[in-house]
Amino acid sequence: MDITIDRKSGEPIYRQLVRRIQEMILSGALPEGFRLPPERRLAEALGVNRSTVLSAYRELKALGLVDSHVGRGTAVLRPPAPPPAVVGVPWRQLFRESVARSHDPILADLLAFSERKDIISFSIGLPAPELLPLETIGRFTTELLDEVGPPLLLHCPTEGHTPLREVIASWVTARGIHARTSDVLILSGSQQGLDLVARVFIDPGDVVVVEEPTYLGALPAFRVAQARIIGVPVDRDGMRTDVLASVLEHHRPKLIYTQPTYQNPSGAVMSLERRRHLLELASRWNVPILEDDTYSELNYDGDALPSLKALDEEDRVLYQSTFSKVLFPGFRVGYAIVPPVVLRQLVLAKQGADLHSNSFGQYLLERFVREGHFASHLERSRTEYRRRRDAMAAALERDRSSALEFERPLGGFYIWCRISDGIDQSALLANAAQRGVVFLPGRACFAAEPPGNFLRLNFSHPSEEAIGVGVQRLLEVIGEASVLARPRGANGPTTSPVV
Ligand SMILES: Cc1ncc(COP(=O)(O)O)c(C=O)c1O
Repeated sequence: MDITIDRKSGEPIYRQLVRRIQEMILSGALPEGFRLPPERRLAEALGVNRSTVLSAYRELKALGLVDSHVGRGTAVLRPPAPPPAVVGVPWRQLFRESVARSHDPILADLLAFSERKDIISFSIGLPAPELLPLETIGRFTTELLDEVGPPLLLHCPTEGHTPLREVIASWVTARGIHARTSDVLILSGSQQGLDLVARVFIDPGDVVVVEEPTYLGALPAFRVAQARIIGVPVDRDGMRTDVLASVLEHHRPKLIYTQPTYQNPSGAVMSLERRRHLLELASRWNVPILEDDTYSELNYDGDALPSLKALDEEDRVLYQSTFSKVLFPGFRVGYAIVPPVVLRQLVLAKQGADLHSNSFGQYLLERFVREGHFASHLERSRTEYRRRRDAMAAALERDRSSALEFERPLGGFYIWCRISDGIDQSALLANAAQRGVVFLPGRACFAAEPPGNFLRLNFSHPSEEAIGVGVQRLLEVIGEASVLARPRGANGPTTSPVV
């Protein structure tokens, strides 16, 4: 065996021995069955201690390269098969740090559950499938293919299909927001508004104020932009502007994100007084407000209050809404109303993201709104969703022993519930899924540690019957979990839900 030892190298001698013999075995220079020299002989030949050779042989044995038996010495084994060349690209290590941190496996699981027919899902905010005006859309599709032809399926301007921008400008103007066609930017869902605003306004480390709780999809948009997210609590009158005042003073945020009307998830409605206070504070500290008005048209008890944008006299509010909740989330069409200088910048960001939103969907929606179907569909939706909200509230009220608290929302898609603090949400979700019902764990709606234990229940998508069955199952699971949980007080929960 041709082995030389380098005594000047920092590598221990036994390691040099292992490395050299390993090389010879793997290269085939020492074939299977070859007997290595006895330890004492090799030690003498190399001028090293016998224990050094012993350690090297032991390590070679541990590596599965040799075997030794008393009386038969140490023999080379068949070299192990080489490992597969590439096991896979280590993608997770390559992601930006902010992306890697924004992964929440619970949300992926919930999307998977939403596709299972045997599970009643209260977890995702979708419209009722029975309400979708499929016939009208089918008719419009045929008409438009006939009348418009190929442009229906080709590119449209990044700002959006101009006739759709026109009808949106008239629609919002009737709701107190004075918008020209040129102020309207069509978005690929209002989710894109969050992303584009984050790209255009947020540098890493900038502070973004969100409500606590907030729309769960806003958090990844701001996190990917590496914003520092600060939560301001929401009570039944919306964002606590007294707390906001102090956050503005101490953190100088770059942006305030709010849903003043039928907030997702809490259902809260910001009072008129607080809307005015918020505008005043934003003006004093010169901070733009991103108003997400996704749910204000889904009002079930009286009219919604004027939007911040309608009250805004400084053009400080970036307003966004969507067709996803009243009509088709799959069209991915939402819109923003913003000052011209902001619109130009958002357009540049949008060109980098998707060039423009879905042309076909924009043509269809334009006709749907222009011909008055949107208004009548909205009326029908309100009636149906009011019924479903009442059905869910009644089902939840049926069993007050379950230690679950909630307030009936005046609009929107969700009932926000508080349960005993001691209940583990992941275990509860797993048990509920086994019984065939799922909900959104409230912690997904907080940027930091939640101040309590909450669940968000969607009532727009499941039928009234499914709501009854699903709530009963859920209350059973919560009841069982409450028995095991640490009690919050002798008489059960006493703190009001954050709505
Ligand atoms: C408050 C809020 N903003 C934005 C969105 C995103 O909606 P879209 O489908 O228009 O992207 C949602 C969807 O649930 C939402 O609740």
